Amino acid sequence: MTNVKAAITGIHGWVPNYVLTNQELESMVDTNDEWITTRTGIKERRILKGEGLGTSDMGAEAAKGLLEKKGLSAEDIDLIICATATPDMLFPSTACVIADKIGAQNAFGFDLMAACSGFLFSVATAAKYIESGSHKRILVIGADKMSSIVDYEDRQTCIIFGDGAGAVLLEPTEDGMGIQDSIMKSNGEGRHYLHMKGGGSVKPASHATVDAKEHFIHQEGQTVFKFAVKGMADVSAEIMERNNLTGDDVAWLVPHQANKRIIDATANRMGVGTDKVMLNIQRYGNTTNGTIPLCLWEWENQLNKGDNIILAAFGGGFTWGSVYLKWAYDSK
Ligand code: UT7
Repeated sequence: MTNVKAAITGIHGWVPNYVLTNQELESMVDTNDEWITTRTGIKERRILKGEGLGTSDMGAEAAKGLLEKKGLSAEDIDLIICATATPDMLFPSTACVIADKIGAQNAFGFDLMAACSGFLFSVATAAKYIESGSHKRILVIGADKMSSIVDYEDRQTCIIFGDGAGAVLLEPTEDGMGIQDSIMKSNGEGRHYLHMKGGGSVKPASHATVDAKEHFIHQEGQTVFKFAVKGMADVSAEIMERNNLTGDDVAWLVPHQANKRIIDATANRMGVGTDKVMLNIQRYGNTTNGTIPLCLWEWENQLNKGDNIILAAFGGGFTWGSVYLKWAYDSK
């Protein structure tokens, strides 16, 4: 056993300029600001506008900003994992496109698809490459252009999602900081409640799939909500228990931003006060793979070396999990 761990050593985020407010949504579907705010906590979300722009453009911006902050060249990166549910295309991978856009000529790359848990699964996967000694500088990018698969006539889903991207750099450390533990779960029985039917190998795009709106997200909200509350709370409690952590030991909970009520239930179960919960759902909505890195990015200045941080996510599949890490640097 080596004592090499994978530490997040840098973070950056990127969101598009266009702000889609609850008020604008009121003019599009039968909804209102009060309903959206009380049921989800969301006030506004960002939308990527512009012909020919996709997930890779947001991911590349986040990655470029991160490299600049760290004073690194893209050629220093040896692996890029892109967590996304909205790849630029089915293939090639968005990670390959980002590598090209930022000039990462020495990296191999792939996409990791685990719906809203993708960023968390990607961080845990990247950690294994670092712990094994095979790779030294890994970019994990969580990026989604959710507006490309949202039906803006469906009030149950269009109020939730937004676009955005975040990127973290993972490097080896031997000072005890970094990723300490991870728990990842999936259960395909949940696939019926949150999915996009069209465009895959079962239902390739056709006039019929377009007419039936099968290239949009379909979500049975209440069912997903119930599983999400239990899944995220259970897995967060489990990772705390097996690492002998109490609520007082946890400096920050970084939850996937799907619904403020799910986040509150998770924090409550963990015994973590709301002052220690990163929450930006009110400004960005659910950016799927962007949520956790966008939180870390916005809170970076408040993080201190040694802070115990729990990341937690739940998403389509179902997929869910938690990561326990010790923050590796003083950010101020
Ligand atoms: O990130 C991946 C995982 N996803 C999640 O974790 C999402 C989990 N689900 C949720 O967050 C919630 O279920 C939603 C926000 C999607 C919906 O909230 P809800 O409290 O579960 O509402 P509901 O679906 O039970 O609907 C309650 C009522 C219904 O009306 P009736 O039947 O009571 O008359 C809906 O038709 O609210 C109505 N409704 C709306 N009203 C105004 C549904 N959507 C809207 C809306 N505006 N946008």
